[in-house]
Amino acid sequence: MTIPTRLDAQRLDREDPIAWLRDEFVIDDPDLIYLDGNSLGRLPRRTNEALDRFIRDEWGGDLVAGWTRWVDLPRSVGDLLARDFLGARDGEVVVADSTSVNLYRLASAALDARPDRRIVLTAAEEFPTDRYILEGLAAARGHEVRSPPDLGVRRSGADRVLRGSHDGRPAHLPARPRALALPPGR
Ligand SMILES: Cc1ncc(COP(=O)(O)O)c(C=O)c1O
Repeated sequence: MTIPTRLDAQRLDREDPIAWLRDEFVIDDPDLIYLDGNSLGRLPRRTNEALDRFIRDEWGGDLVAGWTRWVDLPRSVGDLLARDFLGARDGEVVVADSTSVNLYRLASAALDARPDRRIVLTAAEEFPTDRYILEGLAAARGHEVRSPPDLGVRRSGADRVLRGSHDGRPAHLPARPRALALPPGR
């Protein structure tokens, strides 16, 4: 196997049909190689401009009357994401609040829906604040949080495990139906 050189990488960059997209982002340090795209990606220049415009024109100009438009944005932006990026249908995606707030609400609803189920499963390597939320909800209900060593093995999809199904479970998972299971990478 030949090891690619810097010249090879530069040639690939020149031939890359979407290389122009680099200019769409704020890049203060050209020597920084930044690969964290799932969490806090690079700031798109257009986001900067859109936020400036929003603050100036909508908050500044419309004041509280802006709510008549803002109130529907979670659905209309969700529909755009659904159609253009996610392959989902209208009405299936809602953009609302932060990851933590949404997880709190989802997990609360799931635990309240089945109060007889008292075990919450989450992967040990899960994002720390996700775990704090689950621990807080479990403590308030007298439930137990467990982290079996290979919870991530069964990536059957959050939808199925959220319902607490226990078909096909690995042997080490609890025999009692569990209240909620969040596999990593959901
Ligand atoms: C898996 C996961 N959970 C929680 C968070 C925290 O999100 P929030 O901004 O809602 O606190 C992040 C942020 O990147 C995340 O990736």
